[in-house]
Amino acid sequence: MTQPPTRRRVLAAGAGVAMAPVVASCADPSADPQLHQQDPPRPGTDVAPTTDVPVGGCQVFARFGTVVSQPVEGEFKAFNAECSHKGCFVGSSDEGHIPCRCHGSKFDLATGARLAGPAKAPLDPVAIKVENGRIVTA
Ligand code: FES
Repeated sequence: MTQPPTRRRVLAAGAGVAMAPVVASCADPSADPQLHQQDPPRPGTDVAPTTDVPVGGCQVFARFGTVVSQPVEGEFKAFNAECSHKGCFVGSSDEGHIPCRCHGSKFDLATGARLAGPAKAPLDPVAIKVENGRIVTA
């Protein structure tokens, strides 16, 4: 005979479903679909307001597969967010470099050059411009 679901069983089932993506993303961050580019930037793509990018740091815009940095106030640079080591998305940071949390590579905010870690190559640059306080691909 089948018993009706109890509140505990329903909550346990929901917790299992909710935890699955977290476990998967910890096991292989590069496999997380939310970390992959969904809308490749074309010239003229409005990426974000400049206020979203910290001075001395960077912000990843996963939808566009792009990381935008602000090495010094008012100067913006952009790079492909896929790490040159094994393709994980780099992370957002206010720590003075662009970090890849998969294996610890670090990249220069201004040039995308490799600073540390297993990556051998720099991040690929993305051409951008600032229009009316917004980051726009060039
Ligand atoms: S994928 Fe970035 S350090 Fe390995």
